[in-house]
Amino acid sequence: MVRPIQKNTRTQIPPHFFTDPRIFEKEQEVIFRATWQFFCLTTDLKGDQDFVTGDVGGIPVVVQNFKGKLRAFQNVCSHRYSPIQTACSGNRPLVCPYHGWKYAETGVPLGIPHNLEFYPITSEEKCQLALRSFKVETCGNFVFVSIACERSLREQLGEWHGLLGRIGQGVDDVYFTTQLESECNWKFVVENAFDDIHAEFVHPTASLDTSVYTGSRWEFHPYSSQTEDLPRDYSKRHAQLTVSMSDATVERNEQLWSEHFPDRVHRFPDYLHLFVYPNLILTSVQGFWYNLVHYKPISAERSRMTHWLIPARPASGPSRVTPELLYRLALGSLRVFEEDVRAVEVTQPVIRSVCQPGILGQRENKIASFESAYMDLMAPVTPA
Ligand code: FES
Ligand SMILES: [Fe+2]
Repeated sequence: MVRPIQKNTRTQIPPHFFTDPRIFEKEQEVIFRATWQFFCLTTDLKGDQDFVTGDVGGIPVVVQNFKGKLRAFQNVCSHRYSPIQTACSGNRPLVCPYHGWKYAETGVPLGIPHNLEFYPITSEEKCQLALRSFKVETCGNFVFVSIACERSLREQLGEWHGLLGRIGQGVDDVYFTTQLESECNWKFVVENAFDDIHAEFVHPTASLDTSVYTGSRWEFHPYSSQTEDLPRDYSKRHAQLTVSMSDATVERNEQLWSEHFPDRVHRFPDYLHLFVYPNLILTSVQGFWYNLVHYKPISAERSRMTHWLIPARPASGPSRVTPELLYRLALGSLRVFEEDVRAVEVTQPVIRSVCQPGILGQRENKIASFESAYMDLMAPVTPA
């Protein structure tokens, strides 16, 4: 029987959205500062005075543990603009290295060396010099920061909040992380993560053996600004792909990996691919370990992919994951990411010459939905 040809759609994001610095600035405001953004793992923030620094929507942020409470601040000293924590992560009080101002968990500079001799700043004035603070929340092992999102993290994650939280509670305290920069717009890299057609051409190595897959199912909320009741409800923009494998493959994987990941908290007989709108992806085969990938725009034509390889935690007993094993697993993922980045960044120099939209086939409906949701946010506020 000949299957009827379904109608293709055209891409919705105009070509100049991949190159225009004004679009990049708008995205920072309308998307990245207006949503909860994944920031780090709680693994790095367990102890008093542990901190992690980063950038959210172009704003430097430090998340710091104050006796068990996580606080997020703009990582810029109120005195004369020095970053307060200068390392990516570590353990030290929230003290500016330049002139030693020390900040309390409220963000107020309570300790100002030589205050009476040099300034002097009253208690009331200190309160006015408090650091700009942001909302910080955890979901399982995952830490999110919001610069200006009106919703709670639970509202943003919607139906995925529970799943992400359960996964986050079932992972180990060790991980392997690395970053990969690409000379292209972040949307190229994210759309590639939805694209399952490219695998046979871009990843022809044995490490990505898709022949073991027996079927797949997207639990997806196709986004349309015409039909969506809550046009700004991000929970309708996340997507989960479940890829089934034969019983024999599942069993073979168990035999191969159970020794290292015994009695893991979370196990499932599939390959899981969870997309958290707008820029976070979590994947796992049968819950042995998880690849968490965060995509971040650096400029209109440059992006950064941060990858965490996080092993599953045994329900009881010590972890059996060695640094060597972590590294070996991470290398396998990195090879694939590297192939992805190299495949998409060649598009960046040629997109400027494009005058008409591209084509999206039926299997690319995830990309169509991502573009629809993206344009709904961007179009009303975007310079022509
Ligand atoms: S700039 Fe931070 S204490 Fe002076
Ligand atoms: Fe790929």
